[in-house]
Amino acid sequence: MAACVVLLVPMGMAGWHLSRNKMLFFSGALFITLAVGVHLTPYFPSISDFASSFVVFDFHRHSCLSLLHEVVWEDPINSSSATSDGPWRWSSSRNVVSCDFRRLSPPDTSDLLNGSWVVVAGDSQARYVALGLLQLVLGQDSDRIPSVKSDLFKRHSDYQIVLDPIGFKLDFIWAPYVSNLTHLLHGFQRNRTYPDVLVMGSGLWHMLHFTNASDYTLHLHSLRNSVVSLLPISPELGNEGPVTGSVSVRSPHLFWIGMPTLINSLLNTEEKREKMTDAMRVAYEEALRRSKVLRQSGGPLLLLDMESLTWNCGVKCTEDGMHYDGAVYEAAVHIMLNALLIESDQTL
Ligand SMILES: *[C@@H]1O[C@H](CO)[C@@H](O)[C@H](O)[C@H]1NC(C)=O
Ligand SMILES: *[C@@H]1O[C@H](CO)[C@@H](O)[C@H](O)[C@H]1NC(C)=O
Ligand SMILES: *[C@@H]1O[C@H](CO)[C@@H](O)[C@H](O)[C@H]1NC(C)=O
Ligand SMILES: *[C@@H]1O[C@H](CO)[C@@H](O)[C@H](O)[C@H]1NC(C)=O
Ligand SMILES: *[C@@H]1O[C@H](CO)[C@@H](O)[C@H](O)[C@H]1NC(C)=O
Repeated sequence: MAACVVLLVPMGMAGWHLSRNKMLFFSGALFITLAVGVHLTPYFPSISDFASSFVVFDFHRHSCLSLLHEVVWEDPINSSSATSDGPWRWSSSRNVVSCDFRRLSPPDTSDLLNGSWVVVAGDSQARYVALGLLQLVLGQDSDRIPSVKSDLFKRHSDYQIVLDPIGFKLDFIWAPYVSNLTHLLHGFQRNRTYPDVLVMGSGLWHMLHFTNASDYTLHLHSLRNSVVSLLPISPELGNEGPVTGSVSVRSPHLFWIGMPTLINSLLNTEEKREKMTDAMRVAYEEALRRSKVLRQSGGPLLLLDMESLTWNCGVKCTEDGMHYDGAVYEAAVHIMLNALLIESDQTL
């Protein structure tokens, strides 16, 4: 739109026989005004409310996606200050407040996920994310949580739960390596069934058993290619638009569970302490960035930034330097649900 205005207004003025220099001056001034306006508006909520134009709205939406991880932790040790909401909340900076992120209640979550199929695939981090989601969905039915938890945490196994009243199905797929995730995508394509929400993440096993970041990059590359070619998402990585021609095929919402901050001295075996060093973790992060799996680097998956969440929660939130307090995964789940709300243009 800005481009059209910049082009057409001075052309209209040319009708008034303005000189070329004056025209250039006007287009320049218009362009700068529009550019500054469009970029500043999201930071001024009152202007955003006022300017309901689509461009501004879209801009606001994208900047909100990037603010989702602005979470602050209360001191969990001081239980008197811990609210019933748990030890975290979104930052109260003006930009974040204007995005109106919210913790979804169990009924809101059920509404949002009514009729959905969610697949969470990956290593133990993914298992905790699945648990966080189920705890929220089952909120009103909390007697079931202990048995769900013990079934979900059976070592190295898959898990499925169907909640008939809301037509919700969740699959946890044990996929310790990236190649297992790629294999899973091929399965979806063979069956021509795709989940509505697909949450994936793996890396720690590869780091421990292969300790080779360039090999990890190769696997991530082929995962990216499979996501792009096998799933019904448009190549431009927009969120809409079945490309297969089947109406029933909706584009899945895709998330990547990032690696947590590793606290080397707390890792529980000598082998882990030796191989899962800070330098190696940085190399794996870099591999992820280079492989263009994530939206941030032009890929299809939105990052659930476990590194920043775990880092901010800090050393007090982990016992084995790798798996963190349930509240961290709960925060990740709320971030994911808010991203779903933003992407599907819904409000509650
Ligand atoms: C704990 O929280 C209370 C109430 O918010 C506050 O007054 C107190 O200073 C906190 N104590 C510590 C050790 O942070
Ligand atoms: C789920 O959606 C169906 C129809 O789309 C509706 O009939 C049902 O009441 C919804 N259930 C809940 C718990 O919202
Ligand atoms: C994951 O992939 C590895 C290596 O490709 C394979 O050995 C293993 O059986 C797979 N595990 C699962 C659960 O599919
Ligand atoms: C594909 O369908 C088969 C048979 O129904 C099922 O066992 C398998 O889990 C499905 N695979 C995926 C990835 O959905
Ligand atoms: C790391 O992986 C790459 C790609 O698979 C391989 O070429 C290289 O030899 C491996 N490096 C080591 C030290 O194993």
